[in-house]
Amino acid sequence: MKASDTKATLSFSNGGQSVELPIYKGTMGPEVIDIRKLYAQTGMFTYDPGFMSTASCESAITYIDGDKGELLYRGYPIEQLATNCDFLETCHLLLYGELPNEGEKAAFTKLVTNHTMVNEQMQFFLRGFRRDAHPMAIMTGLVGALSAFYHDSTDINNPKHREIAAIRLIAKMPTLVAMAYKYTIGQPYMYPKNDLSYAGNFLHMMFATPCEEYKVSPVLERALDRIFILHADHEQNASTSTVRLCGSSGTNPFAAIAAGVACLWGPAHGGANEAALNMLYDIQKAGGVDKIGEFIKQVKDKSSNVKLMGFGHRVYKNYDPRAKLMQETCREVLGELGLENDPLFKLAMALEKIALEDEYFVSRKLYPNVDFYSGIVQRAIGIPVPLFTAIFALARTVGWIAQLNEMIGDPEYKIGRPRQLFEGSPKRDVQPISKR
Ligand code: ACO
Repeated sequence: MKASDTKATLSFSNGGQSVELPIYKGTMGPEVIDIRKLYAQTGMFTYDPGFMSTASCESAITYIDGDKGELLYRGYPIEQLATNCDFLETCHLLLYGELPNEGEKAAFTKLVTNHTMVNEQMQFFLRGFRRDAHPMAIMTGLVGALSAFYHDSTDINNPKHREIAAIRLIAKMPTLVAMAYKYTIGQPYMYPKNDLSYAGNFLHMMFATPCEEYKVSPVLERALDRIFILHADHEQNASTSTVRLCGSSGTNPFAAIAAGVACLWGPAHGGANEAALNMLYDIQKAGGVDKIGEFIKQVKDKSSNVKLMGFGHRVYKNYDPRAKLMQETCREVLGELGLENDPLFKLAMALEKIALEDEYFVSRKLYPNVDFYSGIVQRAIGIPVPLFTAIFALARTVGWIAQLNEMIGDPEYKIGRPRQLFEGSPKRDVQPISKR
């Protein structure tokens, strides 16, 4: 952390003594005011629900410029990674800081591939769920349960344990998501196949059956790999902050990642791709493109509580760069599958066009986010809607674990413990029950 020459001075209108606060410069992005000693110096906390102006940590992993619509993993633009690298190279970059050379890539791929199977006992654990359970309910349980199976990688203070846990989580997430899917449709689980790529193997575990040969389509494999890359990390979003906060207590990595999965489930976060596709289905059912005007009217009416899902972002106040790449993949996949005239895709394009021209969305800088198109791609691949968020969790696992390991490796890290502005009753006495 580099201190800036400038300092911030906080003064009080009641004549209280002003305080000087240090300012730090990152390599890019806004500078930060260090308020760590504010309480000791003034007896006051800062108030920032939703962390609108608070940097919760130092990080060297992902950088977003929301106004420019720019996303960098370890300095590399997402567009270059999505077109020149595969997901495992991206995982190596996020975890270790650099893209692998050929030898490193081969070694890393081998390492991950060798950890794709899960303990056979996991099958019995899975059986406890209802067949109609939501995949995210299953995933929250399964990921947390990994800590009961891999006792040799649960000590968060041991760097070797952290590294093995990272590899295990990246390797096993596709297996767990595919198992959750197979369980809900009553098909046998498919074991991972080590001669397939990470995305190809996932397609195999999802769609193959023991009865016949399954051939992985290179276009679908590439599309899925791109979905994984685009979702791999996104700096201090809600689920990543959850993982950091959960991990800050010293809990094991599997438990911390399970907390991230639970957070991601929400419709304002990872659940948005599912919600976006369901929204398109609803408009389609109501009459399709002709009903867009009516729908947009509802969205603009605050009392309706209807949102245009897949639009808007806390950080991007410009087109989400991932949405552009996803739109490109969407066209490629629909072309490959002969679905160019897919009514849902056409509806999405029409909705996007109208929203991008509408004053309500323009003035609020609401642009499509990655979820607007990723649902259409996944549906075309054959992935059922309730599984979308589980796939997001699969892809985000590397980001979560990289961020968690970065935090634990930082000698300055402390348990996260926000404070509050108390608005409840002052101290009072309990009355006997007959007098209440
Ligand atoms: N539809 C309609 N209006 C919207 C939308 C939307 N999708 N998003 C924001 N707005 C409006 C708000 O009502 C608010 O209007 P106001 O100023 O008149 O009160 C204004 O735009 C600003 O929005 P905020 O809610 O303050 O923005 P915030 O940063 O808190 O929320 C969020 C961001 C949660 C992503 C929001 O845009 C949203 O709910 N979008 C739909 C869900 C979605 O697509 N989530 C995916 C996020 S990306 C991801 O997780 C990968």
